[in-house]
Order: sequence, then structure tokens, then C-alpha cells
Amino acid sequence: MSERRSVAAAVRAVLDAADPTEKVMAARAAARDWRLGRLDFRFDVAMPDRPARPDTPELLPPNRMPKRGRGGSERGRIALIHALAHIEFVAIDLAFDLIGRFGGEFPAAFTDEWMRVGADEAMHFALLDRRLRSLGSHYGALPAHDGLWDAATETAYDAKARLAIVPMVLEARGLDVTPATIERFEAAGDMVTARILTRIVNDEVRHVRAGTAWFESACEAARCVPETTWQDLVRTHFRGAVKPPFNDSARESAGLTRAYYQALAAG
Ligand SMILES: [Fe+2]
Ligand SMILES: [Fe+2]
Repeated sequence: MSERRSVAAAVRAVLDAADPTEKVMAARAAARDWRLGRLDFRFDVAMPDRPARPDTPELLPPNRMPKRGRGGSERGRIALIHALAHIEFVAIDLAFDLIGRFGGEFPAAFTDEWMRVGADEAMHFALLDRRLRSLGSHYGALPAHDGLWDAATETAYDAKARLAIVPMVLEARGLDVTPATIERFEAAGDMVTARILTRIVNDEVRHVRAGTAWFESACEAARCVPETTWQDLVRTHFRGAVKPPFNDSARESAGLTRAYYQALAAG
């Protein structure tokens, strides 16, 4: 009898897919096969240092990215949607890398949850790429920010650090900034994009909640205090600032209370 495919092999296939359409298909296949019980709960394949990337977009260091307008003109809106599509594209890899690297340290419910998150990110990317196409552009048409993988590299060997930085700092920052972005698209009369971003931000509350809940369960297992442990990990592994304005209500509904971030925001 042939051995069934492992979870690790299925998530590695997502990370190894360079072409955006193939990455989305691999993400959906991994999530579906796991949900249907077709994958063995085995972590027998290592994750790559960096996921595969398509030839375009050209990846530029942050300081070489062209300045974006305020999103009023169509060109400005396309540039903003492109930047958001890139964030979602990298988010696909972040979700599956989290499973592949750390899934074996947690109960299977962890894999359940992050497979759903990975499928969400693939959907978010597909919605934004489709929106770009309906505006006459596409993902890859503009340069994109290199460096979104830095947080993954920095936390490649520590599950608590990964959860502390990726969902609880970076995705939580998305909760803070997205409402203003939605208002910008509404003000420009682009209700289609505003609706897509509203759907995305609702999903992202769940992602932050998942990150916080699994971080707290890892802290409980290690008998450490979640809030101060998180603050130490952020100081060690995150070079940016955790600063206001915060979307306190969205953070609160994700379980990320002020007890976590207040102390860091105060400096
Ligand atoms: Fe997303
Ligand atoms: Fe997310």
C-alpha cells in the first residue's frame, strides 16, 4: 500500500509554487485534502528558507519603492491594491510555513486552524488580483516590497516568536490601518475594492485571534506569562515600532488586549 501524503509535503508544495495561480491552487488543495482527512499528520519534509517567487513583481528594498499617491487617482488606487495583493501573496506562504515548521509541536487543531487561514489568504490574494485585472492591471505589473519574509526568517526556529510577530504584530497592524484604507476607496467611489477590503479585515480579526490563542496555549505549556513573554519576544525579534493609533476594538475582539501592547507603545 502506498503511503499517504504528509501534511508537511502538502504545505511544502505551496511554498515551492512560484506562479501565483499555482500557489493559490496548491493552497486550496492542501486545505481541502487536510479537511477531508487525506493527509497524514506527519512532519517529514523540511521547509525552505525562502518560498518560491514568480519573475514578477520585481522585488525592491523598501527605500527603493516608488512613492504611492493618496489613492485618489485610478493609478494611485491600482498601486495600493497591488501592494495589498503582495501582502496577501506573502501571507499565503506565512500561513503554510507556520504549519510546516511548527505544526508538529501542537495538537492537530493547530493545523486545522492555520489551513483555514492559509485558504483565506489565498482567497484574499485572488480577490485582489481579480480586482487589479478588472482595472486593467494584474499582480506583477508593478514592483513590490521585498522584506515581508524577514519576520519569517527572524523567527524560523521559535514557534512562540513566530506567533508573537506575524499574527500578533503584523496582522494586528492590518486591523489598525485597513479601516482608513477602506474609507479612502469609498471616498474615491470604488465600492468594489472597499467591499473586498471589508471582507478581508473581518477575516483578519480571526487570524489575529488564532495567533493570540495559540500563543497563549504555547505559553501555558511553557508556564510563562503571555503578556510579558510577548513583549520580550517583540523587543528581541521585531525592529519596527508597535505604535498607535491602535484599532482597540478590533484588537480586543481578537483577544489582543491592551495588556499586551500598551507597555510597548509607551516606549
Ligand atoms: Fe489576508
Ligand atoms: Fe491573515
